[in-house]
Amino acid sequence: MNDMPPFGRVDRSRPIPPSDQPARLEALLEAVRGRTALVPRAGIVLGSGLGSLADDLENPVAIPFGDMPGWPAATAPGHVGRLLLGRLAGVPVAMLQGRLHMYEGNDPGLVVQPVLLFRQLGARLVVLTNAAGGVNPAFGPGTLMVISDHLNLTGRTPLLGPNADELGPRFADMTDVWAPRLRERLHAAAAAEGVALEEGIYAGLLGPTYETPAEVRMLRTLGADAVGMSTVLEAIAARWIGLEVCGVSLVTNAGAGYTGQPLTHEEVLEAGAQAGPRLARVIRRFVAELPGAGEAGISA
Ligand code: HPA
Repeated sequence: MNDMPPFGRVDRSRPIPPSDQPARLEALLEAVRGRTALVPRAGIVLGSGLGSLADDLENPVAIPFGDMPGWPAATAPGHVGRLLLGRLAGVPVAMLQGRLHMYEGNDPGLVVQPVLLFRQLGARLVVLTNAAGGVNPAFGPGTLMVISDHLNLTGRTPLLGPNADELGPRFADMTDVWAPRLRERLHAAAAAEGVALEEGIYAGLLGPTYETPAEVRMLRTLGADAVGMSTVLEAIAARWIGLEVCGVSLVTNAGAGYTGQPLTHEEVLEAGAQAGPRLARVIRRFVAELPGAGEAGISA
């Protein structure tokens, strides 16, 4: 038996051009299909504070990142990194608990693999969630914001290098990344749950520092309403591969400089833990009310 994992030892910083993705996705798909035949309708990426949604999964199959070929095991101790497949409100879904960030040193091609895998597993849409800072002064801690558009300010893209035409086009259209149809459904779900839901533009930066006050003012000038360190590359890859995309930011803190107080990770986690269950309710209802949501999702 060969102990070497497929694609060699995990080197998270090794560039993964689009042309490398098909073979990698095949191996990832095989790893999942060895454990479950569930065909998800939707993929959901859980940001900080949204862990409770994972607890709602019925009959979940949990696969640690370290068991997925080419994926690094979760970095920090106590950080969950796993792919979950199960039913949410009776609807088959895949969830990513603990995403891969660029600031951990992960190549953009690795960061987006979970989303590409959702599509390979059969999902048609993806819900991206994140914790974010409020750039719009009206969006204080606890605000939930449907993402209407984004600014990719990471300086990176997952689509650099030779393309894989079988997955998506060389020049992917980004006109309607954040599907108006799904945004309406998120608002309807929030209204039904009695949860306030704003809408705005998410600016994605590389991190891992929080912004300077001058950067937050710059982001406001550029039209951003919230700022974070994730999501934009996943959205780009999802559109490239033909998934419908929607997302919600959970504003955990006012952007740097607004309060005169320093930002801390503890405050972000704390606000996430408080508002997370509210967002979980919205997403649960959104999934439950997808057209044809009750249809079977097991292929074997
Ligand atoms: N900036 C960037 N990312 C964040 C913030 C912030 O203020 N809060 C939570 N994630």
